[in-house]
Amino acid sequence: MSDPVIQIRGLRKMYGPHTALDGVDLDIGTGGIGILGPNGSGKSTLFKCILGLIRITEGGGTVLGKDIVTMGPQIRSSIGYMAEYDSLDPGLTAVDHVRYAGELLGMRPDQATQRAHEVLQYVGLEDQRYRTIDSFSTGMRQATKLACAIVHDPQILFCDEPTNGLDSSARQFMLDTLRRTISDGGGTVIMTSHVMEDIQGVCERVVMLSGGKIVLEGRIDELARQITREIEISVWGGATKLEEWLLTRGHRVRRMGRIMRVEMNGDETISAILLGASETNAQVRVLKEYEPDLEDIFLLIMQRLGKEAKGASAIIGGRE
Ligand SMILES: Nc1ncnc2c1ncn2[C@@H]1O[C@H](COP(=O)(O)OP(=O)(O)O)[C@@H](O)[C@H]1O
Ligand SMILES: [Mg+2]
Repeated sequence: MSDPVIQIRGLRKMYGPHTALDGVDLDIGTGGIGILGPNGSGKSTLFKCILGLIRITEGGGTVLGKDIVTMGPQIRSSIGYMAEYDSLDPGLTAVDHVRYAGELLGMRPDQATQRAHEVLQYVGLEDQRYRTIDSFSTGMRQATKLACAIVHDPQILFCDEPTNGLDSSARQFMLDTLRRTISDGGGTVIMTSHVMEDIQGVCERVVMLSGGKIVLEGRIDELARQITREIEISVWGGATKLEEWLLTRGHRVRRMGRIMRVEMNGDETISAILLGASETNAQVRVLKEYEPDLEDIFLLIMQRLGKEAKGASAIIGGRE
């Protein structure tokens, strides 16, 4: 990793008797990083601790070299924060809101005005910028929050559940915008989500939280390489016979209707599938190497940790 822009050591946060973060150590460099975890796992609390918005119980760290315990205000003026909940004033127009956010961050009024127009165009609100927030859809409000967070062109952008409540086109647009921010900006975007696909679509690294602890961390492609390779086939007739044929010969098969994934043991696996298909008259329509996704990685790691995981959704939780 390049020099970390964020370093966290032994971070612990209690709300009364309740432990929300339980000894978190984390180094974050430049690029896109996803903080993934079920509701209540501590994602928002982690952001608030890093930004100096709440009092830390134990441990500490730095953001861009500034101490998170004592330098909260200095940290907040050099980063962007898109909070989980709506903090917008319904009576203001989008452009006034973003300009105001810029002025609060110390920008000169003329500079803040110019940037407000630029960033509203960037988040897709060019045509709606003179409308008041109370006439906005959830997607437009989220986009306004993002515009407020990037008005001062921060080096690090924190987005807490940026896709929450969005329909699929607004969600796609938000994810595209975040992706663009990472590729164009050369800075760091840290986003939380309880939805794996959102993280996978934007970030190259992931940190998984569960019960206030980090259970998994790393580059998504490197984590994927640790997973056993599989051949995926799509079978139209005789899938059950082919499945039995493979199982009797000691192959490991995961079946999902017409789709089967067979654990890869070198090229023999492909020969075995083709032989099995011809002996059982099964019609194999598609045969390819399966690309594991974040959910597969998560299930594997949970198995290694010795936890029962029926499906990632049981732990990560579904869409709200
Ligand atoms: N202000 C608070 N007072 C008491 N408990 C809280 C407070 N904020 C969060 N918690 C608790 O801390 C845990 C972590 O919450 P949070 O950081 O919001 O998780 P996430 O963002 O992953 O959903 C949860 O059990 C939550 O109920
Ligand atoms: Mg949260």
